[in-house]
Amino acid sequence: MINILPAAKDTWWIGANDRRTERFENIFPIPKGVTYNSYVIKDEKTAIFDTCDTAVSGQYLENLAGCLDGTMPDYLIILHMEPDHCALIETVLGRWPSLKLVGSAKTFQLLSQFFPKLPETEKITVGEGDTLSLGTHTLTFITAPMVHWPEVIMAYDDVTKALFSADAFGTFGTLSGSIFADDYDFEKEFLSEARRYYANIVGKFGPQVQTVLKKAAALDIACLLPLHGPVWRKDLSYFIDKYQTWSSGTPESSDILVVYGSLYGHTAAAAQAAAAMLEEKTGRHTAVYDASKTHVSELIAEVWRCGTVVIFCPTYNMGIYPPVESFINDMAALNVQNRHFAIAQNGSWAPASGKLILEKLEKLKNCTISENTLTIKGALSEADTDALLAFAEAAIQ
Ligand SMILES: Cc1cc2nc3c(=O)[nH]c(=O)nc-3n(C[C@H](O)[C@H](O)[C@H](O)COP(=O)(O)O)c2cc1C
Ligand SMILES: [Fe+2]
Ligand SMILES: [Fe+2]
Repeated sequence: MINILPAAKDTWWIGANDRRTERFENIFPIPKGVTYNSYVIKDEKTAIFDTCDTAVSGQYLENLAGCLDGTMPDYLIILHMEPDHCALIETVLGRWPSLKLVGSAKTFQLLSQFFPKLPETEKITVGEGDTLSLGTHTLTFITAPMVHWPEVIMAYDDVTKALFSADAFGTFGTLSGSIFADDYDFEKEFLSEARRYYANIVGKFGPQVQTVLKKAAALDIACLLPLHGPVWRKDLSYFIDKYQTWSSGTPESSDILVVYGSLYGHTAAAAQAAAAMLEEKTGRHTAVYDASKTHVSELIAEVWRCGTVVIFCPTYNMGIYPPVESFINDMAALNVQNRHFAIAQNGSWAPASGKLILEKLEKLKNCTISENTLTIKGALSEADTDALLAFAEAAIQ
């Protein structure tokens, strides 16, 4: 059954929803699924924007054939060579061999690496500001290196004022009866997944996202057509502002994040008590997570949201308790910055996790770390309330 919808004048959404795959990139749980968007502009010339993941190949090829309706497409524009979008290039070329491929110089290097047996076909290399006329629509290309891979380009349509934004402005989560963000309660249905997608997929490349946002600010954009999630045709500034905040390294809210690891519950109890103290002292909402239970991508999304991060961690074989270590390593890998941290360690005979965590956090850019570190030796008792209170007070800055 063909499943295509109009996205803008002469422009069709021909993507597909994937509610079956467990993990995106085989890492990130996607309980709400993900969409792989692809678009077609039908003008004097017909242009296809990207393909889809193999997970939805059947639906995608049916959509594409249905949209083309027996006509021969002219261009396959490759905005991003990651296989969640480019996986079906060889299949599509096999079916419509006269297609001309459009991409950046780097796109074609990656293309030959992923598809060494691709048949000879005409390739049009585009760079910053280059244009491609489809008849009435003219596309202008914008380079967007490292949003999310080095070859990424975006395309701007002068008629619909649509920005085909590749992975930028994407989100996890599937589309229901509409492809448009304004048909959803975005904040309720998508925002937390959009933040998790941003922080984990694009978050490391904040400066590169800022560069693209500056280029976008110079354009008159009426709609955003990303490669994942809904299409934006109203209130674009809401989502663009989110991207401004997320990519600038600024916390989105004043909420406090408490992440703990705990084998038997004692560190958890201390973290819970500290969270109540922090909330009472500040009136700021305090969100508590068990690092063993919550996927690290969720914790990372919460770091992007919260300005203060309080870590409670047992010592484990003279090291950092592994689920907490994975969280801290991910923060370092994703260039977390401009945050305030406080560290509490647990250890029954030779507590060491606090110092090891401190060494890792000290390497993060523009971060401050509370000098009041708390040491727990098993369980906290009522007699330790003052020490916990002092730790919580110092954690707030
Ligand atoms: C496998 C294992 C290794 C541990 N290694 C250390 C250690 O190297 N140094 C230390 O002081 N405590 C060590 N501990 C003790 C824990 O840090 C301590 O029991 C702490 O209370 C655990 O946190 P919980 O009570 O929240 O589960 C270890 C415990 C286990 C089970
Ligand atoms: Fe990507
Ligand atoms: Fe993607």
